[in-house]
Amino acid sequence: MKILSTCLLAILLTLTSFAQKSDKKLYDEIYRPQFHFTPQKNWHNDPNGLIYYDNEYHMFYQYNPKGNEWGYMHWGHTVSADLLHWKPLDIALYPDENSEDKERCTAFSGSAIVDENNLLNKQKGDVKTLVAFYTSQHCGQRIAYSTDKGISWEKYEGNPILPYDEKDDARDPKVFWHKDSQKWVMVLYRKTSEDDKSKGVSIYTSDNLTDWNWESHIAGFYECPDLVKFKVTNRPDETKWVLFDGDGSYLLGGFDGKTFTTESGKLKSDWGKNYYATQTWSNIPEKDGRILQIAWMRDGKFPDMPFNGQMSFPCELSVTKFPTGYKLIRKPVAELEQLHGKAYSWENKNVIPGIDENKLKKVTGDCLHIIGEFDLKTSDNFGLMVRHSSKIPGTEILYNVKRGTLSVLGCTVPLPAVNNKIKLEVLIDRASIEIFANDGQAVISNCFTPDEKANDVVLFTNGGELGIDKLDVYKIESVWNQ
Ligand code: FRU
Repeated sequence: MKILSTCLLAILLTLTSFAQKSDKKLYDEIYRPQFHFTPQKNWHNDPNGLIYYDNEYHMFYQYNPKGNEWGYMHWGHTVSADLLHWKPLDIALYPDENSEDKERCTAFSGSAIVDENNLLNKQKGDVKTLVAFYTSQHCGQRIAYSTDKGISWEKYEGNPILPYDEKDDARDPKVFWHKDSQKWVMVLYRKTSEDDKSKGVSIYTSDNLTDWNWESHIAGFYECPDLVKFKVTNRPDETKWVLFDGDGSYLLGGFDGKTFTTESGKLKSDWGKNYYATQTWSNIPEKDGRILQIAWMRDGKFPDMPFNGQMSFPCELSVTKFPTGYKLIRKPVAELEQLHGKAYSWENKNVIPGIDENKLKKVTGDCLHIIGEFDLKTSDNFGLMVRHSSKIPGTEILYNVKRGTLSVLGCTVPLPAVNNKIKLEVLIDRASIEIFANDGQAVISNCFTPDEKANDVVLFTNGGELGIDKLDVYKIESVWNQ
């Protein structure tokens, strides 16, 4: 008996330690982002239903519970108190009509709002109803609601709220409250004719969240629209509306509740290859006042990983007036500081060309936050090699002084120097590089698959001298360790 119980105990201990080890392994894989959201396993794409409620940021996302490729879309669900640590929750939305099909009636992208005035008449007690608007692919635009702060979801009995029309390919409703006209507004991707040039954003309005009137259409957009009002940061009395396309590009303009009036050409908000299906959070409290955006980092490669996809790092958006015109500014949310580990700092230093001149010799790591202001002095070009080693060349981030361009991983953005200076803020995670240049005026987001063994960083200049006005490098702690 004693021998048997000792054996059982030994087996139990082995199993527990194995489970602990494999848990660690699970969030510690070579290409597992350490401070970007990924689901534990399987495919995900667009962020959906972004909403802040009761001190929690909810993020839903396009999710295939069946495997590592696109299809069978559900809404996965996760919440965070700080936009850094994401707690996994049960799937929120399942396909409609018990569809087992890869596409038909599956839960495509959409948004969520708080039903402040109980228009759906579903509210229980003081907890407001959360309402999700989503596309049931080939089955119309639909509503689901939650009366328990987003934990469980019911489909609305009057679905669809906009019937399926096989000609218009409509999808991705983003709904918000328009204070001036006292109406709910929906922006919806659609095409209005056979001609692909009609692909764009249709604007609808509603008084009750369930009956929607078509108001106008603006062509030249594709998937996942978003329409957001901004106060211009350096012109406190001015506002601008920004109409976002799926790839984060945008138009600046005015919006009267029915029609968007364009005041700019289409502008790029990200110059990388992987920023897609952007969405902003709804219901951010006024005292916070930030406009927060996240995107799916499309087309990333995650060889041999149990998951396929990652979100971008959450960002704060603003609109600023420059001598050249109005512009969207994007910066990583300040919460990132909470993950800062070991810090390195340099001030008023000169860098000269040469492989032995690397000021960042003592920095190594696969998760770094680099913030620097550089004086171009006589440099022809300068930059950083990240995830580098003496044997394996890393990834180059290069500023070309003569051209005034910043390049990484085959992507280039025009970046004029200001008073002969360039500012770079770089986020390195195990599978991504995001660069915010000149205080968020130019952004490049890319996925990459660096070599596991290459963990050095090199700061270099070619052709002449470079000044470091200030440079701070922080190791970033994994959100999975905490
Ligand atoms: C964008 C998108 C959306 C659609 C969803 C389906 O990536 O194509 O238009 O709703 O993905 O997963």
